[in-house]
Amino acid sequence: MPGFDLHGARRPSRTLHCVGGKAVNFARVLRRLGHEARVLGISAGHAGRFMEESLDAEGIPHRMIRAPRGESRLATTIMDPATGVHTEVNEAGPTIDADVVGGALEAFGEMLPGSRYCVIAGSAPPGAPDDIYARMIATCHEHGVPVMLDASRNWLLGAAGAGPTVLKPNEKELGTLLGRQVDGAADAAEAAKELACQHIDTVLVTLGEEGAVGVTANECLRVHMAEPPEILSAVASGDAFAAGYVAGLLEGRHLSGRLALAAACGTANAQVFGPGYIEREDAEILLDRIVVGPLGLASDGDVS
Ligand SMILES: Nc1ncnc2c1ncn2[C@@H]1O[C@H](COP(=O)(O)OP(=O)(O)OP(=O)(O)O)[C@@H](O)[C@H]1O
Ligand SMILES: [Mg+2]
Repeated sequence: MPGFDLHGARRPSRTLHCVGGKAVNFARVLRRLGHEARVLGISAGHAGRFMEESLDAEGIPHRMIRAPRGESRLATTIMDPATGVHTEVNEAGPTIDADVVGGALEAFGEMLPGSRYCVIAGSAPPGAPDDIYARMIATCHEHGVPVMLDASRNWLLGAAGAGPTVLKPNEKELGTLLGRQVDGAADAAEAAKELACQHIDTVLVTLGEEGAVGVTANECLRVHMAEPPEILSAVASGDAFAAGYVAGLLEGRHLSGRLALAAACGTANAQVFGPGYIEREDAEILLDRIVVGPLGLASDGDVS
């Protein structure tokens, strides 16, 4: 893999150049869990070529729509191994025009038939219309393909109302959506319940080291580690969580089993250096230490 040494990556004392972004991280984890995944994206310039070559080398199938100008965005994470503090510097990416948007939507429509699941993750490049994810969710519904939305800011606000099958915000993103601060598992579950009773089947709220809640119209579960694990970097743990959830679903697990595998993947990711470079074995070892149980809601007249 160009510029990447997985063994060295476990020793956090070097520079790591690798392809990331939420969709790529998600596909990487899903494939490492033993499932197929393809990435649709937009690439531009030399950085885009590096991205395509790196995905080829890693064996992640992809379809990239080339933007004629600009460079794919570089995201730089500077980690201080002594303190665990991360500093992220994210470029905006190339500005795209209507042709590129049209090409991406057309490719999306071609890739959906025959797919068992779709995940729309991260932000679209500048120039993409605010409703692009809402349109993609509508296309998923037309094809009968379940769809998860994992986005933030305007991309989340523009698409949550389109009724993704699963919404995966973290605490902050859920707060953005509801226009208020969300604080802790019980509060997150109450807020998620409102959405799950409207037009979204399942809301998964990730809470970092506090685990996550999974809420449907009929169930409300909390997942967390019995004891806090040692961690290295939680960058992309949300993407690993999402991939673990979808893997659990493809394997026929119920909500509790999906949440357990999701949290195991999120935590396993926090124990390695590099986004999504986990082994299924490492996630499965963590399963023994993961607790999933019902979380009573005040709105159900039963607080726990
Ligand atoms: N410090 C940690 N200790 C244990 N598990 C963790 C830790 N951080 C994350 N996880 C696991 O990973 C899951 C997802 O992490 P997190 O809540 O940080 O997602 P996120 O904010 O969406 O991340 P991302 O930056 O990838 O978007 C959590 O629900 C938890 O199961
Ligand atoms: Mg996230």
